[in-house]
Amino acid sequence: MKIAVIGSGGREHAICYALSKSPKATEIYCLPGNAGIGRIAKCVDIKVMDFDNIVDFCVKNAIDLAIVAPDDPLVAGLVDRLSAAGIKAFGPEKKAAILEGSKAFSKDLMKKYGIPTAKYENFTELDKAIKYLDNVDYPIVIKADGLALGKGVLICKDYDEAVDALKSMMEGKRFGDAGNTVVIEEFMTGREVSVLSFCDGKTIKVLSSAQDHKRAKDNDEGLNTGGMGTFSPSPFYTDEINEFCMEKIFMPTVKAMEAEGRTFKGVIFFGLMITKDGPKVLEYNARFGDPEAQVVLPRMKNDIVDVMLACIDGTLDKIDIEFEDNAAVCVILASDGYPLSYEKGFEIKGLEKFDNKEDYYCFHAGTALKDGVIVTNGGRVLGVTAKGNTLVEARAKAYEATKWVDFDNKYMRNDIGNAILSK
Ligand code: AMP
Ligand code: GLY
Repeated sequence: MKIAVIGSGGREHAICYALSKSPKATEIYCLPGNAGIGRIAKCVDIKVMDFDNIVDFCVKNAIDLAIVAPDDPLVAGLVDRLSAAGIKAFGPEKKAAILEGSKAFSKDLMKKYGIPTAKYENFTELDKAIKYLDNVDYPIVIKADGLALGKGVLICKDYDEAVDALKSMMEGKRFGDAGNTVVIEEFMTGREVSVLSFCDGKTIKVLSSAQDHKRAKDNDEGLNTGGMGTFSPSPFYTDEINEFCMEKIFMPTVKAMEAEGRTFKGVIFFGLMITKDGPKVLEYNARFGDPEAQVVLPRMKNDIVDVMLACIDGTLDKIDIEFEDNAAVCVILASDGYPLSYEKGFEIKGLEKFDNKEDYYCFHAGTALKDGVIVTNGGRVLGVTAKGNTLVEARAKAYEATKWVDFDNKYMRNDIGNAILSK
């Protein structure tokens, strides 16, 4: 089969890697891809929001399966466009991708169908939103409704900070139109876990759990980022919690989407908080997580093509998703200054040390090929990942491997997976 992956980050590299192990994937393309992806797929310089050219490319090249990986094109309806052109596409249609595209929609869905989540209200008018702050506990969480590169969530410690946050979103357009509607929600405490799942509209199959580290600096200090490192599985996500989530969160979400006429096919990523009152949904995403995919996909035993086709064809009930009985840890090597401003264009040295090393992966995020040399080209540059028999072993191997590569302004967190050391 000829397969095209839409996207260009570490997640897409992990997807292409999984595809490269499938005997069914005879030709793999990535639009636009990056320097690392280019070693296992043919990169084609078409941007993810350039729908006309993506559809044109897939039709002209008789692509058998297109995989739309990032949130923006999913929410804007790329799967619909591809399907309309006769291309089999993996990912939710626009009307289902709203599960991630609008936090106000997803909160209302959870309320309507009794899915556990933080208490909240949605607002489109600033004065009403400010009035609501009179009767809430602090800290309070304020979220832009729409997509905001994972940065649209502000945790405000007091009334004044909350008023400023509301004004910056609703008046100041800090997140553009994404902040026209805001969600004000209760602050929850507990341990966060990411659970990715495959879904064919009716059946849902969960993947091994993972935990991300979203803040830029050690000890969860600094700004929110796309994610600075992950481990999988999460020892805090027990079988008992999984059973609860399946019954009260996962299946109810799938059924709710179907009942709303928004049948979801693709990956649902449940961002959960395990609170003292049980697991609650922090957010939904309509795609693989980044860098969750980097620790989950290398541990999956199934042929990813079979699973994706089953999601599209509605036959997921016939497939058991199986995982290796091991663990993986991913440490992001970033450009110092991320997520604000940083320099790029520096040569990356030592990448060859990953060649033919079993259990080690160097997933590229922001890299580019310049005059035959691989250089840094983004905030998150590489996702250095290792598998081990245990989380502790995988963590030690991943940190060891971070020393193999070097580039100017290399920055990483040194405490990825520290929580597992005491477990
Ligand atoms: P989200 O994009 O909704 O997952 O939010 C980004 C991050 O903000 C989450 O990973 C949490 O760490 C934090 N967060 C979001 N909502 C809440 C909440 N209601 N209570 C506490 N922390 C939250
Ligand atoms: N790592 C979090 C996300 O992909 O949204």
